[in-house]
Amino acid sequence: MREKFTKSPRIAVLTGAGISAESGISTFRDQDGLWEKHDIMDVATPEGWRRNPSLVLEFYNQRRKQLDEVLPNAAHFALAKLQKHFQVDIITQNVDDLHERAGTTNVMHLHGELRKVRSDKFPALVYTTKHWEVKLGDTCEKGHQLRPNIVWFGEDVPLIPLAAQLVENADIILVIGTSLNVYPAAGLLYHAQYNARKILIDPNEMQVENVFQLQHYKEKAGDAVPKVVAELIQEFLG
Ligand code: OAD
Repeated sequence: MREKFTKSPRIAVLTGAGISAESGISTFRDQDGLWEKHDIMDVATPEGWRRNPSLVLEFYNQRRKQLDEVLPNAAHFALAKLQKHFQVDIITQNVDDLHERAGTTNVMHLHGELRKVRSDKFPALVYTTKHWEVKLGDTCEKGHQLRPNIVWFGEDVPLIPLAAQLVENADIILVIGTSLNVYPAAGLLYHAQYNARKILIDPNEMQVENVFQLQHYKEKAGDAVPKVVAELIQEFLG
């Protein structure tokens, strides 16, 4: 059964690494994913940073460098199109900039952004990097080492309350390419209205399907997102 909308629906989109997979960026937990090749504790925690900042800088330098070699794919472009027709809030766990480069505005980056760095001592001092490489000795205006502006494991996710509000306000929620393994982002669906339409796009079986009553497109984002976007435009705008 499908709920009827009397007004244009408000749409929240939660994206994860899977939406960028077809652009050539590895996911984290799939076979051959980033966390098979790197130890989370070494490169994505404040403890790892304290232990070996060079290793951490190098890990994110390589990720940043890769951004110059990849392009948004059909899924990113389809979401930019969706945003032209509806009020769409994009909440991403991704630290790449492919949503923006596809033309999407107002992207909420829950886990930070690769293109940004911040002062190790004063978190409010955030800078956009012009170059992919950040080195030991690169400092903020107050002379403290710059670190990636990434939310590491064990750190607060400051945007979560705002993201929860967006999910709560949504009539339709699209969840695309995330294993929903990492909290608090994975808990955002608990904020959805009981009658919100929830659509999951992920080629793999997901345990959350039944819990949240998600309509599951078991396909790659590059195939399913343009299809779902076309269906929504057809349904509401004819
Ligand atoms: P994961 O690597 O945990 O999950 C990726 C999801 O994408 C899986 O469910 C795959 O089945 C799916 N997937 C793979 N290829 C796809 C495709 N072509 N189209 C659609 N889906 C596809 O990545 P996330 O859930 O994003 O955080 O991981 C969440 C967080 O864990 C990341 O933001 C990162 C990581 O540790 C930090 O580093 C702080």
